[in-house]
Amino acid sequence: MDFSNKKFGTKAIHAGFHHDEVTGAVMPPICLSTTFAQRAPAQPIGNYEYARTANPTRDILQTTLAALEGGKFGLCFASGCNALNTLLQTLKPSSHVIISDDVYGGTLRLFTQVFNHWGITYTQCDMTDLKQFATAFTPQTQLVWLETPSNPLLKILDIAALCDINQQQKQQPILAVDNTFATPYLQNPLHLGADVVCHSTTKYIGGHSDVLGGALILNDQTLAEQLYFLQNAQGGVPGPMDCFLLIRSLKTLHVRMQAHCDNALKLAEFLQNHPKISKVIYPGLTNHPQHQLAAQQMRNFGGMISCVLKEEIDVKRFLQSLQIFTLAESLGGVESLIEHPATMTHAAIPEAHRQKIGIEASLVRISVGIEDIDDLTQDINQAFSK
Ligand SMILES: Cc1ncc(COP(=O)(O)O)c(C=O)c1O
Repeated sequence: MDFSNKKFGTKAIHAGFHHDEVTGAVMPPICLSTTFAQRAPAQPIGNYEYARTANPTRDILQTTLAALEGGKFGLCFASGCNALNTLLQTLKPSSHVIISDDVYGGTLRLFTQVFNHWGITYTQCDMTDLKQFATAFTPQTQLVWLETPSNPLLKILDIAALCDINQQQKQQPILAVDNTFATPYLQNPLHLGADVVCHSTTKYIGGHSDVLGGALILNDQTLAEQLYFLQNAQGGVPGPMDCFLLIRSLKTLHVRMQAHCDNALKLAEFLQNHPKISKVIYPGLTNHPQHQLAAQQMRNFGGMISCVLKEEIDVKRFLQSLQIFTLAESLGGVESLIEHPATMTHAAIPEAHRQKIGIEASLVRISVGIEDIDDLTQDINQAFSK
């Protein structure tokens, strides 16, 4: 059955696998075999020969992700970094890339310490400023990479407007959106004109902080074929158990995201009125600089909050005094996490650049989980009281 015209929750549960035609199994099989029998040389019985090239459990995950993002092709990788790494391998030496200014530290590291050896140069730019974006192109620009909401400053970028400017460029760069923070439940960049969507499925898509993964979703067949070739050639593919966990997690993505968004808005309002906090950054608050854009571009405002603690607060002590929030990197799990970008997730970014873009020492980032909101607010109060 074709689920392409069904709503999100139905696609999340059925698009990649409805039930097994042979056994009737309602949940997808975990296919562990690394090799597949052939009737005669070079005549495989089914669609599979070797598990790095293709695997039935991975195919189900790829199909589901593509359906949820509204793309024709989905490819899964061993991590989010590996997904970006594979996309970057499609670039010619000496290409130039434009990236938004507060991207994930590991993303920036690929440009500063890996692909720089291949002669790939980059320009970081504040993409909330469309004029600045329009002037960042060079004749060698082959890729535009952006994150929205951004990490950790939760800036919202106007995907459709950026795509319009990108499409006016003679060299037709690929525009890719890292949709990890929003997930396909909150925003579908391909519908807004993006060429490629990237995910760290380690985050909300996995949703339980127990599986690493990454994905690329797109519509262009030529680029998809190039990426499938690289997926097999470089081999950074997820194992079938990991694919199964992600398929299972996707079935509840809409329910979890709704709960994350509900809790995050309540927590942001609580923090905004808190005497120990000087600034709360959450796209769902009306004082967020791109609140209107977020309301128009996203179905809800997400589960991430950043806030600046008042000067007199000992940030380290506060973080160590929390009992329900876990002090840890990463995000998107059912449990609430809190972290200190300047010394943890964004420590790899040079200090001068961190300060320039606003990642100050008293900034903390919260991944709001789906625990009871009253327990979360009480935990924050008790930590401040220490
Ligand atoms: C927005 C974003 N993109 C990509 C990544 C990289 O993903 P992974 O850790 O799965 O390689 C991360 C990791 O934190 C991230 O936050």
